[in-house]
Amino acid sequence: MPSEHDQKLAWVTGGGTGIGKALSLALDREGWQVVISGRTEQKLQAVKELGRSISYRVLDVTDQALHQQVYDDICEELGIPELVVLNAGDYTPMPLEEFDIDLVYRLNRVNYLGVMNGLACILPVMQSKQSGQILLMSSVAGYRGLPDAAPYGATKAALINFAEALHTPLKQQGVLLRVVNPGFVTTPLTAQNDFSMPVEITAEEAADRIISALDNESFEITFPKRFTYILKLLECLPYRLYFVLINKLTGK
Ligand SMILES: NC(=O)c1ccc[n+]([C@@H]2O[C@H](COP(=O)([O-])OP(=O)(O)OC[C@H]3O[C@@H](n4cnc5c(N)ncnc54)[C@H](OP(=O)(O)O)[C@@H]3O)[C@@H](O)[C@H]2O)c1
Repeated sequence: MPSEHDQKLAWVTGGGTGIGKALSLALDREGWQVVISGRTEQKLQAVKELGRSISYRVLDVTDQALHQQVYDDICEELGIPELVVLNAGDYTPMPLEEFDIDLVYRLNRVNYLGVMNGLACILPVMQSKQSGQILLMSSVAGYRGLPDAAPYGATKAALINFAEALHTPLKQQGVLLRVVNPGFVTTPLTAQNDFSMPVEITAEEAADRIISALDNESFEITFPKRFTYILKLLECLPYRLYFVLINKLTGK
């Protein structure tokens, strides 16, 4: 086990539960020093106790000033994180008959603007260092519109689009910006789904897929491929065919 000074540092937002928790524990097992954040201290403390080299900072990603302060504190106290996983996210389904503007704002503030708050702190530091890797936790729900997931899917589509736009110019500056697009993963977030989720995997399996992709430089990390590649095929279809097929598949 390397000493704390030799250890590479990773920062995972939303590290108190679900995919973020499993990924933080997996990184910890791989010898990384890991700092996690989220709004609920008890959840962060519980993950810290499960790991060997995990610390935490309480953070609501929608608070831009706090995001900057937490990042600055991490850099000062632990060093500049080499890997940042902007994973914190929120989800509530929204059938058309329950259109809820407050929900649309909430999901945008957490899933899209929360990630922007993270990038605003991290990018200038990684750019001046000319190194670092950032993973944006998006979703296959961002590939194309899915009935009942409009506000959530739109935030994830925005992340993919944003990362596509910045991937190449950042790579030329030595910074790797990537997206993670999981299919269904068993976590508190998906527990509210009242339909059977095809090819559902555990958070630990999701963490393994992310860890094993850390050493390659592909833009997208997506899994489980036997499910997400079908969605990729749907993404290529002309709209007329897409609407017929997706409505058949979801019964909407
Ligand atoms: N599960 C899936 O099938 C799936 C599929 C595709 C993508 N994703 C994405 O994966 C990410 C992790 O989700 P998950 O499935 O692991 O669900 P989860 O267990 O609910 O994790 C979400 C985490 O985000 C944190 N969070 C929520 N709002 C926050 C805020 N305003 N500020 C800071 N932290 C906040 C939560 O902690 P606190 O409540 O304590 O703040 C929680 O730890 C999300 O971005 C989600 O959209 C999940």
